[in-house]
Amino acid sequence: MSIKPILFENGVVRMLDQRLLPTREVWNDYRDFQGVAEAITTMVVRGAPAIGVAAALGAALGARDIQADNFTAFAAELDKVCAVLAATRPTAVNLFWALDRMQACARAHRDLAVPQLKARLLAEACEMAAEDERLNRALGANGAPLIGDGARVLTHCNAGALATGGYGTALGVIRAAVAQGKTLMVYADETRPFLQGSRLTAWELMRDGIPVTLICDNMAGYLMSKGEIDCVIVGADRIAANGDVANKIGTYTVAVLAREHGIPFYVAAPVSTIDLRIADGGGIPIEERSAREITHVGEQRLAPESIGVRNPAFDVTPARLVSGIITERGVVTGNYLQGLKDLVEKGAE
Ligand code: MRU
Repeated sequence: MSIKPILFENGVVRMLDQRLLPTREVWNDYRDFQGVAEAITTMVVRGAPAIGVAAALGAALGARDIQADNFTAFAAELDKVCAVLAATRPTAVNLFWALDRMQACARAHRDLAVPQLKARLLAEACEMAAEDERLNRALGANGAPLIGDGARVLTHCNAGALATGGYGTALGVIRAAVAQGKTLMVYADETRPFLQGSRLTAWELMRDGIPVTLICDNMAGYLMSKGEIDCVIVGADRIAANGDVANKIGTYTVAVLAREHGIPFYVAAPVSTIDLRIADGGGIPIEERSAREITHVGEQRLAPESIGVRNPAFDVTPARLVSGIITERGVVTGNYLQGLKDLVEKGAE
């Protein structure tokens, strides 16, 4: 069983503190939405779908604490809760998608008495967590046929169980291929500066007994040039209407290298990561994170005092470099504008 990084138990949201992996497995308890917002900002939980699940549960905790005796007063307070959660991280659209869904759920049940409305919102958030894992399993089944037996698969960042409600997106495809009996070797980019590859992808694949080899980010081109990588599969934080993909910084570099070497470059993401309101990657907000993530590892300084630093946490891979976008509703392999629109509309039927 792959790990589930977010649980709701006995009225408390529990999250595996991903900042401490792989050396310590510590679960933190959150009893209010402010705590959940802080956990998202500080990367206790990270990865687009997991951020969405955490935000939904945070909104449910916030809703639980609202003092109101009618829907109008309740909705005004819920707006404030959602605004705090929405301000945590800018790039992963799943955060905003999840909060919109919670607010839509509240409006759809406006005729309920406030205590029942609170219970309904909590049920919705828990369903979103369970649904995310189900969708990842469907996504994995759709993507597995793209991975040949014996393939050496490069991944970047962590798009695994830890980044989702469970099972993972890019790693979900890998898990599904392994479950079909294929023998794979996963190459995990370490993913500077936050090291999601070395700390998280390596940890969760080893935990599940899936062969994984760690490389530094700057080694991918060498391995490709030696014929040691057969395909690339990554996750996504937001996919624009034209198929441009925002994902962890360094993804674009890997996509360019893959194209140069004629290696397929796949993106795996749930439909909730597709943002049809954004025409192309240029409109996707890119988070800039603290300089300290680059100048330090833990307490150890790695660069001179007062050095200027840029730390964009994501980049955009143009659709022309993407061989296929794998979702729970199918795989799109070209004409992304039409294909992604069709996938989104498929759910509305
Ligand atoms: O900064 P992070 O760790 O939240 O970034 C995560 C990624 O970029 C993942 O690849 C992406 O969210 C997909 S997770 C299924």
